[in-house]
Amino acid sequence: MKLAMVGLGRMGMNMARRLIQTGHEVVAYNRTGEKIDEIVKEGAIGAYALADLTEILAPPRTVWLMLPAGRPVDEHLDQLNGFLSPGDIVLDGGNTHFKDDVRRQAFLSVNGIHFMDVGVSGGIWGLKEGYCLMIGGDPEIYKYLEPVFKSLAPEDGYLYCGQTGAGHFVKMVHNAIEYGMMQAYAEGFDILDKSRYGASLDYSSLCHLWNRGSVIRSWLLELAESAFGKDPGLSAIKGYVEDSGEGRWTVEQAMETGVPAYVTALSLFARFRSREQDSFADRVLAALRSEFGGHTVLPAEEKS
Ligand SMILES: NC(=O)c1ccc[n+]([C@@H]2O[C@H](COP(=O)([O-])OP(=O)(O)OC[C@H]3O[C@@H](n4cnc5c(N)ncnc54)[C@H](OP(=O)(O)O)[C@@H]3O)[C@@H](O)[C@H]2O)c1
Repeated sequence: MKLAMVGLGRMGMNMARRLIQTGHEVVAYNRTGEKIDEIVKEGAIGAYALADLTEILAPPRTVWLMLPAGRPVDEHLDQLNGFLSPGDIVLDGGNTHFKDDVRRQAFLSVNGIHFMDVGVSGGIWGLKEGYCLMIGGDPEIYKYLEPVFKSLAPEDGYLYCGQTGAGHFVKMVHNAIEYGMMQAYAEGFDILDKSRYGASLDYSSLCHLWNRGSVIRSWLLELAESAFGKDPGLSAIKGYVEDSGEGRWTVEQAMETGVPAYVTALSLFARFRSREQDSFADRVLAALRSEFGGHTVLPAEEKS
């Protein structure tokens, strides 16, 4: 098929490459032109303005957005809504909130433009391994685009999940599970590291071992093996962990529907915690213990 990839970041660029390598014609657009030049050298057709997509693609046009969630997606959709024709298709493959999908589908449908939401997992490894795709929207459009999904995914690596928002909803829960799994591994290694056995353990070898037939084997452990292999004590990086929204949205969803999602909530809060040192909450705790029990408090460190 011939389709456009809009957003040539870590994800969109490699997805464009995988599509080219599997025989699709990719029209590439990005805010910064150098990335377009780069993918044109690998066989893409460059579109240096979003409006050019209408000329380069023939109806029904397919435009895949791979942008940061939120305003960039709305800005692009506002523009595309002005250029595209009834019957054209826009897919959002970023980590978008499913409620935004419902709003955007309603917005585009006024002009007869189809909207599909696609949760994409696979990160920078997707080019080689394929991307796991969780797809929501009109089932007929899903069928029409199946050759594209098939090329991006590994074998059996894509699924129609339901009407608009279902793909991103499933991806949101996927990421919440990822938070919990990562937290469990992190705590396990912390317990090992603070034990009498920590000093004699080679964590890279341990990850390798745990991936040989153990119950907790996983791709995350392969990645941990690689990280410990490069830096056994992870001493070159700071223990500061970002979140990109899905954990928060999943906790909100769990609250809305009364689901006791302990692991997701605590894993999310652990990330917040990673960003604080000598927090106000900890100083309140220390002060209270001192007030009621005369317990020792340490003096504040001098601020440089
Ligand atoms: N990285 C992952 O492992 C991963 C996995 C699954 C899903 N996702 C999701 O996929 C989407 C893309 O992620 P990514 O990792 O590829 O991001 P990225 O490397 O930061 O790339 C973002 C792309 O969007 C463009 N962009 C950023 N802000 C823009 C704006 N305001 N207006 C126009 N273009 C803008 C950038 O253009 P410039 O080149 O001009 O900056 C760049 O091409 C996100 O929604 C992310 O959450 C990421």
